[in-house]
Amino acid sequence: MTATIQVKDGIAVITVDKPPVNSMSLAARQGIVAGMEQALADASVKAIVLTGKGKSFCAGAEIKEFNTPAAFAEPSLATVIEMIENASKPVVAAINGTTMGGGLELALGCHYRVAVAGAQIALPEVKLGILPGAGGTQRLPRVVGVELALNMIVSGTPIPSEKLAKTALFNKMVEGDVVEGAIAFAKTIADTKPLPKIRDIRIDFPLYEGFFSFARNTVRAVAKNYPAPLKCVDCVEAAVTKRFDDGIAFERAAFLELVTSPESKALRHAFFGERAASKIPDVPEDTPIRAIKSAAVIGAGTMGGGIAMNFANAGIPVKILELKQEALDKGLATVRKNYENTLKKGKLTQEKFDERVGLITGTTSYDDIKDADIVVEAVFEEMGVKETVFKKLDEVMKPGAILASNTSTLDVDQIADFTKRPQDVIGTHFFSPANVMKLLEIVRGKKTGKDVLATTMGLSKKLKKTGVVSGVCDGFIGNRMIEQYSRQAGFLLEEGALPEQVDKAVEKFGFAMGPFRMGDLAGNDIGWAIRKRRYVEKPNMTYSQTADRLCEMGRYGQKTGAGWYDYKPGNRAAIPNQQVNDMIVAESKRLGIERRKITDEEIVQRLVFALVNEGAQILDEGIAARASDIDMVYLTGYGFPLYRGGPMCYADTFGLQKVVMRMEQFGKARDGARQGKSWVPAPLLAKLAAEGKTFS
Ligand code: 3HC
Ligand code: NAI
Repeated sequence: MTATIQVKDGIAVITVDKPPVNSMSLAARQGIVAGMEQALADASVKAIVLTGKGKSFCAGAEIKEFNTPAAFAEPSLATVIEMIENASKPVVAAINGTTMGGGLELALGCHYRVAVAGAQIALPEVKLGILPGAGGTQRLPRVVGVELALNMIVSGTPIPSEKLAKTALFNKMVEGDVVEGAIAFAKTIADTKPLPKIRDIRIDFPLYEGFFSFARNTVRAVAKNYPAPLKCVDCVEAAVTKRFDDGIAFERAAFLELVTSPESKALRHAFFGERAASKIPDVPEDTPIRAIKSAAVIGAGTMGGGIAMNFANAGIPVKILELKQEALDKGLATVRKNYENTLKKGKLTQEKFDERVGLITGTTSYDDIKDADIVVEAVFEEMGVKETVFKKLDEVMKPGAILASNTSTLDVDQIADFTKRPQDVIGTHFFSPANVMKLLEIVRGKKTGKDVLATTMGLSKKLKKTGVVSGVCDGFIGNRMIEQYSRQAGFLLEEGALPEQVDKAVEKFGFAMGPFRMGDLAGNDIGWAIRKRRYVEKPNMTYSQTADRLCEMGRYGQKTGAGWYDYKPGNRAAIPNQQVNDMIVAESKRLGIERRKITDEEIVQRLVFALVNEGAQILDEGIAARASDIDMVYLTGYGFPLYRGGPMCYADTFGLQKVVMRMEQFGKARDGARQGKSWVPAPLLAKLAAEGKTFS
């Protein structure tokens, strides 16, 4: 049963019971209709209370049903709302908790609403690339005013119910049991005639033209590649300018257009992808987890300081260990400066500043960290240094402490075997800057305990990170894939493109930054060091050597004031450099490559499909559990455009057969053979394409 009905003292209480958030699935809609029919037919019932079981009143439409027959099957949400609004007996919504999207629209269809404080109220559809499609854009402005409604609809941000208490949205705020409060309220209005309907409220907003023109300009400037926000403005304007039923029809048409858009598909993919990533297939959800009440970080360098800030931001006391006092002081000073900058920008209160800075302390003695529940190692990327540190940690840390490594390339299994407790060892690969970037790759060693994995995943949520589990391999999910992307970027230079064209094409596609601007930011010397290793380890893997020439010129990137581009002091704007471009042309000549004009389309496809092919290989090897995990890595750690849903989702949308076809064309092209196996489709990709299937 997705809705239950109980009748007592002339009041029928219909409770939606669709765990976990009472979304409006077809069955839930049918449940409400059945409850309404029973209550309307029962002569003893004078009024009806509608509520939700658990912590939600209703979190909105059932997103999984979108674009399936169930979404359009009757009773639709609009039909349910119409039935409630036109009911002959008063219907009171008892807002017991989260009320979002279609859930708020359902409440707006009721004649009255009573709420408890602390319920999150929102029309968050825009975050899924759609807009409220069951009357929300027409009814909300009628009760909270046009301006507030527009803000809520365009931003999707939840507002706690008590902050809306003064609007006409709620007829009453109740303390304690909201259903009891709603029943008591229902008794006071049971005989009211005619019943109040939000649709009948007239909006008086004479200055609407100027208001909406301003709103449109503001929204257009930030919405860029997302069509939904501007459509939200159109719909709220329709609430002001059109008759109610015409406004509803206008909203419906806009909703139907958006719900099938690739942007909405991508945003919904990301919504479910984020939640799926936290589920580890062979680790049951009820796996006991270890308490993390204190932490330690080894190394106060670039990453160590940022990692420590994450713990402090989550209220977890953390000690940073360095071997030398000077390095410790420097690291702590950087952390303090970071917090001071945030304080200056007004993004942190003095109280929070004091609290966070106070939670981070330094030490040069292992004795001071031995009781920490988790220790994250962030020392130099050398196996010998990691060995010394992990042997020491094994010796001093209390039993049950989690020993984590932030290594970006080294073998976590080998690191685990430096200890006598490999089950407690795990990789926690934070991204730089660690206090800002959302991605946390959780690297699961062969011997990592399931409870350690579950605890680290839980910790990632506490640290407000998107945790994605990766198996052990060179580069894990993200960096292993980016290597193929970077290789293509290098080949494109040799074949005829220049850094600026490549970066602009990729940025136009939606990446936050093109590969060369990214290289300049991260430091081209890092890739150089990795390639030097690769030339020995993988002699059959071809690379463009333009990036090596660049480093030989001393152009490491922003840190040396020059990389693929020039940089003026204190300015991150990338200025193309003639010497670099000459060097690239000279490399083509050296290789005997006749430079050609390369289209932006080819640039984007070669970079993105190189990611897709390696992603497919990673999936096949079980390094990632699901395609959406790979997408989450790219959306949260590599600036892949959210509205394209990540590389694997993009490939699905593009069509895997077409992807494979393009890859084959790239392989057969004049310079394709130089790229080795780059364009041989990974077996999984070839199989899915041949079967007409997708990754998701
Ligand atoms: N439809 C289907 N499933 C939903 C859902 C929805 N509307 N909202 C949440 N869920 C699922 C999640 O996928 C998750 O499933 P899982 O356990 O299988 O992973 C489960 O419910 C719990 O969700 P969270 O992990 O996010 O739980 P939280 O307690 O952290 O957050 C929440 C709860 C605030 C309700 C959050 O889930 C949320 O923001 N949900 C989306 C709300 C939303 O966007 N509503 C609008 C839907 S579109 C609509 O209503 C169209 C209408 O205008 C016609
Ligand atoms: P870093 O060079 O900035 O900092 C390393 C710190 O460790 C230094 O302060 C050093 O004094 C200290 N240290 C060295 N040996 C030590 C020891 N035995 N005991 C205690 N402290 C010691 O290096 P960074 O960039 O912070 O990298 C640290 C780790 O994080 C590496 O494994 C790196 O691969 C990884 N990583 C780095 C990223 C980056 O963008 N910098 C991104 C993701 C991971």
